[in-house]
Amino acid sequence: MPYKILDKKELAMNEVWYKIHAPHVARKVRPGQFVVVRAFPNGERIPLTPVTWDREEGWITLITFVRGKTTMRMANELKPGDELLNVAGPLGNPAPMKKFGKILAIGLITGMVEVFPIARAWQEIGNEVTTLHVTPNPMVILREEFENAVSRHIVEGFDLQPGWGMNEIAQELVKRAVAKVKELLESEHWDLVFIVGPAGGQKAVFNVVKEYGIPMEADLHPIMVDATGMCGVCRVTVGGEVKFACIDGPGFDAYKVDWDELIHRTGFYAPLERLALEHYLKTLQAQGGEQ
Ligand SMILES: Cc1cc2nc3c(=O)[nH]c(=O)nc-3n(C[C@H](O)[C@H](O)[C@H](O)COP(=O)(O)OP(=O)(O)OC[C@H]3O[C@@H](n4cnc5c(N)ncnc54)[C@H](O)[C@@H]3O)c2cc1C
Ligand code: FES
Repeated sequence: MPYKILDKKELAMNEVWYKIHAPHVARKVRPGQFVVVRAFPNGERIPLTPVTWDREEGWITLITFVRGKTTMRMANELKPGDELLNVAGPLGNPAPMKKFGKILAIGLITGMVEVFPIARAWQEIGNEVTTLHVTPNPMVILREEFENAVSRHIVEGFDLQPGWGMNEIAQELVKRAVAKVKELLESEHWDLVFIVGPAGGQKAVFNVVKEYGIPMEADLHPIMVDATGMCGVCRVTVGGEVKFACIDGPGFDAYKVDWDELIHRTGFYAPLERLALEHYLKTLQAQGGEQ
């Protein structure tokens, strides 16, 4: 089945938006669920989240953070009219659609993409939702969409300084997130906190939230392969039990997650990921040299 790219654009620095023909996903997907995409014949499978969809027209939109080889190849090589090889889904459990009351929904960098469908649906069923996007300023996305969808949208942006690498960005991200969340929890009453983002940032924010005893849900991002419960690569420990994030999650009670284990496992393939990216960049350079 062809998964045609109907449209594509760069929304912000390293943030690419795709509109994809995928009627079987569009028909059934619910907020909180994801898809697994394989874009190239020799490529890996990566989990991504439908941000918006049209059930009748049969399309979904995806936003990728260009962070490693696959997302960079997608950004560089795919254009409208091309087809993705596979779009499997919808996968995972939908987010719980309940009246919690006043919700603080936090997205760290591209995590905001996954917050969008869930926050909008929570607002629609009668919750009062505040969304908080913590991100480098050049990576602010979906501002207008959030402003139209929820009660209040806060962007906690920061400028990137010359010479900063991923470590410095991660440190600033965590510092900003923790300070802003403390300020919001100190000044207002909340019934639920929800967060999507890198595991280190999620854990740092959780450590603040637990001081206030507010219920908290987190969408987890362990590495996934099949994403249908058959391999266990995505296993996480929740409440002392082994769970598979692709079928038991991706949403879990933040108070029960073994954060240190998750952080350790997520970084497992970092050296190989760096190698794959370096190899791809060298190929690009070589191609550039030939022209
Ligand atoms: C349920 C779920 C939903 C997601 N939704 C989105 C989304 O909407 N937009 C988006 O930009 N990203 C999303 N991600 C993360 C996305 O899958 C990774 O950014 C992507 O796999 C990176 O591939 P890469 O080759 O470009 O980078 P890599 O070099 O492969 O990896 C860079 C980083 O991504 C992590 N990663 C690599 N492979 C996977 C994998 N198969 N599963 C999970 N993490 C991986 C690595 O641990 C590493 O930290 C989601 C992840 C999950 C689990
Ligand atoms: S990714 Fe294989 S079981 Fe979840």
